[in-house]
Amino acid sequence: MNDSMQQPRSIKSLAIVGATGAVGREACRILQQHHIAVDHLKLLASPRSAGTAVDVGGHSHKVEALSEASFNGIQYAIFSAGGAISREYAPIAVKAGCIVVDNSSVFRMDPDTPLVIPEINPDDIADHQGIIANPNCSTIIAAMVVWPLHRVNPIKRMIISTYQSASGAGAAAMEELKTQSADVLSGRDVTPSVFPHPIAFNLFVHDSPLDEHGYNNEESKMVHETRKIFHAPDMPITTTCIRVPVMRAHSESINLEFTNPITPDEVRKILHEAPGVSVVDIGTNQHKSTDAEHAGNHQPARFPMPIDASEHDDCLVGHIRQDMSRSNGRAINMF
Ligand code: A2P
Repeated sequence: MNDSMQQPRSIKSLAIVGATGAVGREACRILQQHHIAVDHLKLLASPRSAGTAVDVGGHSHKVEALSEASFNGIQYAIFSAGGAISREYAPIAVKAGCIVVDNSSVFRMDPDTPLVIPEINPDDIADHQGIIANPNCSTIIAAMVVWPLHRVNPIKRMIISTYQSASGAGAAAMEELKTQSADVLSGRDVTPSVFPHPIAFNLFVHDSPLDEHGYNNEESKMVHETRKIFHAPDMPITTTCIRVPVMRAHSESINLEFTNPITPDEVRKILHEAPGVSVVDIGTNQHKSTDAEHAGNHQPARFPMPIDASEHDDCLVGHIRQDMSRSNGRAINMF
């Protein structure tokens, strides 16, 4: 989020649905990080969490059980408690006069619901009818770096492979990665419960349902959501989504084919100026060894890593290279 995008700095009333979950807790942290004052903050979760306390900016807030009456007098609500809760309660919140920002996939492809990345299509918000959908996490990461390039040199084809962290599957999944890792290191057997397969010291194809072509739901979401956000209904996009044993922050390998020739330097220059994007692309040229390297002071290349992206707003991009399999200078690889 850029400084210019931190409006409004104060909100009269805000409900966070799923406040005890992985995304809900991040929302609370971001309120504090960006000094967004909320006169009336309502933290909502399941009856299991009712009465527990969550710290927001040094103030302890009691979690309440979500109910139909939760949204009376509330201006905005962020929903992040899964699709079933959004489907049932977002319309109730809208009826109560609340504007809902929904993190689930339930409303994303609904033609009457804007699907918005503020850095890309903020004007689409104007058409909202109470609900504004937040895209899939993998969709956002790719779109943030592809959009600024697409505006300058239209994309003809996009190939994306993901390396998705446990955090995308929620707080319980992160806990499973931690305990399984400890179990494996201690020689104990592991029994997956949140994920269908062992996540520690392993990786697997994203465990969402497959369509008739064999693509899982996550892969299809990336294709359809990107087309909707870009207003490019026919853009050729193909994806492979993989879950990896990383705690937070997804990574993606992206191959782009452009309409016109483009160089890695041109890509870096465009992305340097892109809102919400940081270029981390410090390579080493293996062919030119310096005196320092001869002396054993060789610095490794520095490209984006999940541990550097965690708990930061910007999407990191680097390892930007010409795709040498294309002789026309129109294809680029990046991470
Ligand atoms: P709770 O902690 O009480 O179960 P995550 O995405 O990390 O798995 O978190 C899911 C969030 O959704 C949690 O805050 C969880 O609350 C909340 N949640 C789950 N079921 C319900 C429900 N029936 N009503 C309200 N919130 C729910």
